[in-house]
Amino acid sequence: MKKKYLVYMVQVHSNFRRAELESLADLYQLEIDFSSYRDDSPFFVVELEDDKAASDWIKRSILSRAIYEYWGEGDNLHELHESIRGQPFYEKYKSDNRTKTFKFEFESYRGSSKANRVKQIESFSYVEFQGKIDMKRPQEIFTVIEEYEPISDNLPGTVPIKLFFGRLIQCSDRAAVEKYDLKKRPYKGTTSFEAELSLVSANIAQVKPGSIMYDPFSGTGSFLCSGGHYGALVIGSDIDGRMIRGKGAQHNISTNFEMYGDSARFLNVLTMDFTHNALRRTLVIDTILCDPPYGIREGIKVLGAKNPERFIGKENVEIDGTKAFARRDYIPTKKPYSLDALLDDLLQYASERLPVGGRLAFWMPTANDENIETIVPLHSNLELRYNCVQEFNKWSRRLLVYINRGSEYSGNENIGQKRSQANFRDRYFSHFN
Ligand SMILES: C[S@@+](CC[C@H](N)C(=O)[O-])C[C@H]1O[C@@H](n2cnc3c(N)ncnc32)[C@H](O)[C@@H]1O
Repeated sequence: MKKKYLVYMVQVHSNFRRAELESLADLYQLEIDFSSYRDDSPFFVVELEDDKAASDWIKRSILSRAIYEYWGEGDNLHELHESIRGQPFYEKYKSDNRTKTFKFEFESYRGSSKANRVKQIESFSYVEFQGKIDMKRPQEIFTVIEEYEPISDNLPGTVPIKLFFGRLIQCSDRAAVEKYDLKKRPYKGTTSFEAELSLVSANIAQVKPGSIMYDPFSGTGSFLCSGGHYGALVIGSDIDGRMIRGKGAQHNISTNFEMYGDSARFLNVLTMDFTHNALRRTLVIDTILCDPPYGIREGIKVLGAKNPERFIGKENVEIDGTKAFARRDYIPTKKPYSLDALLDDLLQYASERLPVGGRLAFWMPTANDENIETIVPLHSNLELRYNCVQEFNKWSRRLLVYINRGSEYSGNENIGQKRSQANFRDRYFSHFN
């Protein structure tokens, strides 16, 4: 028989939360009924097969805090106790935990209580815990989770409006947000992507241990760090060799991996224009996760010449007996390219290189213009599974996640069409006026 569990989630990035929970459930082949899930609540009660399923599901979640074996809930402490005593599994849970060492914890959402915690713990005496209290390494942690109604925007509540009680099964991976915090990262740049959402992106992209993840616009390597954290072997490339080389021997992508203890997962990074891709065609790429250029700091460029006729015959120019283009110091010419075309190339590449079922996830910027629909790129082999929006003031960016379904799929396609309304870079610098 399935058991009830309580997921306690964070109330940030709620546009991404369900996508993360669904993707992790799918990764561990867990069937979860999301019908009672609400974006505006940090609590989600679900039924699962056993504690292992609960633990698998939440252990790498970033937008959850923990999952608990559900014992009961109520609008006040009295109702909570009634609910615990009224559950069908109450006697079993009691006997399962009777002799274990334990401790009690309190979690509070949007408020804090002035109540005497010792007295509150004593009010659970009917559960007859006979094991020793161990504050350092208890076998079990029992948690009272309280929800409050804040008195005002700045004033947290003091009397809980809802209480849950449960046995802690698994804490989430939120500690990784601290570990990968950009403030503590030795090598980073203006394009580095914040830790929390890059870890969430890796979860929604279902980056798997032992698989190969590729970031074709890797810059300072933010997504490579997230992929490595979840056990993938990561490869990155970027057209800008300065990003790839970093800032000397002690500050580069490789030394970041060393600091995180993930060096074994770092395959390498190379300087390469994505549209002239040199990764061999037989290399299996399980996941593509990236943040393509928005064209904000520089316009989007690819290898090539804007006016190719100016270069006719120049391929024969030699310096010190070596063809100029074959020298190490040769800087190839670049030509402007559009975001639409680059994203078309990315979708086409994913459809050719990912295995069926493999995911492509990338971030796309959009201006928040009224009455103008955002047109998301579509490819006939790729199912658009998620479109999660992060709103800023005048613009937003969205994480688009596709699953490669193969050539049989015949989904909608808009490759080759002009989708962007106006040059995002110009609009960004004119503050979208
Ligand atoms: C938004 S940034 C990504 C930053 C990256 N996520 C990081 O952690 O720093 C886009 C990157 O794409 C690179 N880029 C632009 N055009 C490219 C191209 N044609 N091929 C490969 N990389 C390109 C830029 O140099 C830039 O580093």
